[in-house]
Amino acid sequence: MIRTLTGEDVAGKHVIVRSDLNVPMADQGGVPTITDDGRIRASLDTISQLSSAGAAVIVVAHLGRPKGRFVPGLSLRPVAVRMAELLDQPVEFVPDLVGGAARSASAALEPGQILVLENVRFDPRETSKDPADRMALADELAKFGDLYVSDGFGVVHRQQASVTEIAECLPAVAGNLVAAESAVFRKVLDAPDHPYAVVLGGAKVSDKLGVISRLINSVDRLVIGGGMCFTFLAAKGYSVGDSLLEADQVETISVLLDQAAANGVEIVLPVDVVVADAFSAEADSKTVPADSIPDGWQGLDIGPASVDLFVSRLADCQTIVWNGPMGVFEMAPFAAGTRAIAEAMAHSDGFTVVGGGDSAAAIRLLGIDEARFSHISTGGGASLEFLEGKQLPGIAVLEENHDV
Ligand code: 3PG
Repeated sequence: MIRTLTGEDVAGKHVIVRSDLNVPMADQGGVPTITDDGRIRASLDTISQLSSAGAAVIVVAHLGRPKGRFVPGLSLRPVAVRMAELLDQPVEFVPDLVGGAARSASAALEPGQILVLENVRFDPRETSKDPADRMALADELAKFGDLYVSDGFGVVHRQQASVTEIAECLPAVAGNLVAAESAVFRKVLDAPDHPYAVVLGGAKVSDKLGVISRLINSVDRLVIGGGMCFTFLAAKGYSVGDSLLEADQVETISVLLDQAAANGVEIVLPVDVVVADAFSAEADSKTVPADSIPDGWQGLDIGPASVDLFVSRLADCQTIVWNGPMGVFEMAPFAAGTRAIAEAMAHSDGFTVVGGGDSAAAIRLLGIDEARFSHISTGGGASLEFLEGKQLPGIAVLEENHDV
């Protein structure tokens, strides 16, 4: 069991909240602009609950991977501005993390007020491999607060100062988002209702080998689309033209396919593919059978027969987990596969979980009602590592028997 905010008296306390505010940004005429604010919205429940209960709330978060140095385009300032709009309440921002400006701003914070500190990854100690560096930063941050609330589900798989070491420095509890997300993934991991299908997509199969190995011991069906499906098709001996292929993983995938067959797990692969002669929305495109992708063409979406097959294999499922788009959904000609999976899940009577990152963004971009899913996670890598059954360091430090 992890400790949560329930019963915690926060009135008059300075509370440090680690949120995951790592939102996608686009450069619009030199102005960094948020393209999907889902993670900011998901962080509001805990922050506003603390603020309403009379805590002075100090938010710590990262944006991107600045590798320990200041990168102007990765400042959290626009995120703080968006948070204030969404909360309809002032949110202060200080362009500093643990220096004098941050110290004064946090000391001056009154009950109910909210302060966002600058991107924690501008400080190299946050992601340092050396535990002493991480502890030094955690120690400095911890001086700002009386309580630490871990609410960045997207980072609980990271051993980083503001996720793990800080929980050694202060009383530490899970925020509402981390508590809710952990409960959902625990249920899926320990007691899924059957039939249970996992739909995996996205570009790289090498990122998902761990979770695939685990899933072929627990799921009834594994449905594979996206760029990673071409390594599966190659493992079946098909030629994949110019599609994304991780040639060094073909052998590993062949072994996993054999194991899945031995376990009675059905692996559902595309039977047709939308191919294009360039990676562009304006490219020439056509649908071809999955076993005859021509040279010079690359697969950018699953085809209509694959959509029918995938949807039919999900129809009776009581648990469906989805992580990774089926195609290049950002380009309209290659969005149909991703849309079809999202629609199938939205119409399902089962327990439907969307792993964060690109799949969650796809649902919002394609305008599908988020309320029709049982749960949309904010964690991409974190949700995959959870499903892999790994112990997540940011959760382990919140366990009730963990020594503070
Ligand atoms: C994410 O985007 O999945 C989280 O914010 C974690 O980011 P990271 O992969 O850069 O640690």
